[in-house]
Amino acid sequence: MSLVEKAKKAAAYNAVDENFPANAKVVGIGSGSTVVYVAERIGQLANKESFVCIPTGFQSKQLIIDNGLKLGTIEQYPSLDIAFDGADEVDSQLNLIKGGGACLFQEKLVASVAKEFVVVADYRKKSPSNLGIQWTQGVPIEIVPNSYATVLKSLYALGAKNAQLRQGGSAKAGPIITDNNNFLIDADFGAIENVAQLHQQIKALVGVVETGLFVGMAKKAYFGEESGEVLVWG
Ligand code: 5RP
Repeated sequence: MSLVEKAKKAAAYNAVDENFPANAKVVGIGSGSTVVYVAERIGQLANKESFVCIPTGFQSKQLIIDNGLKLGTIEQYPSLDIAFDGADEVDSQLNLIKGGGACLFQEKLVASVAKEFVVVADYRKKSPSNLGIQWTQGVPIEIVPNSYATVLKSLYALGAKNAQLRQGGSAKAGPIITDNNNFLIDADFGAIENVAQLHQQIKALVGVVETGLFVGMAKKAYFGEESGEVLVWG
């Protein structure tokens, strides 16, 4: 197992061991490669029949099934005891950039109704100061498909240095389609000075469904370090 992979596993296992509520009934499972280890650890719990897991997308649904966990929907369970998820970048205020895996809308929906939201990540995701320093691929933004030209124009007006419609795997594939049948834009604003303000400005654009800026939502963040230790923020 590579160093990064070990770091992801250590963060995820620690986060579950230290935060999973003994009497949990509804648990959110996020998306990405670090959450694979969250689902694995939760799948090892002796009481796994006593709670339901809510996915944040297609991959997450598969993780729940593959680990023998009970699957539910956010429509059935609109209130969660806890949610675990990865992040593309985390600042010291626990603001996040998410959406590298294109699941940001459902991830935010699930996190927004969880009593506790715990982030798991490897050491590369920590920002020394502002968001937009470690994660240089831009802020992921989910949009209604036919709004892409107007939203791109508005993002440049808001100060984006670069904004692109996220494309599929090949030149022929066209824009990627989210689990909600929308498009994604990645907008690079450089180091973000005011995360809450930028989120609000982008969210106010007609056509924007949600931004990958998670402001003040996470309670704790667990980082697997290169040393093998786990650093906890929050
Ligand atoms: C998906 C996400 C992921 O949680 C984020 O990209 C982190 O993924 P990984 O754990 O693979 O680094 O936001 O939309």
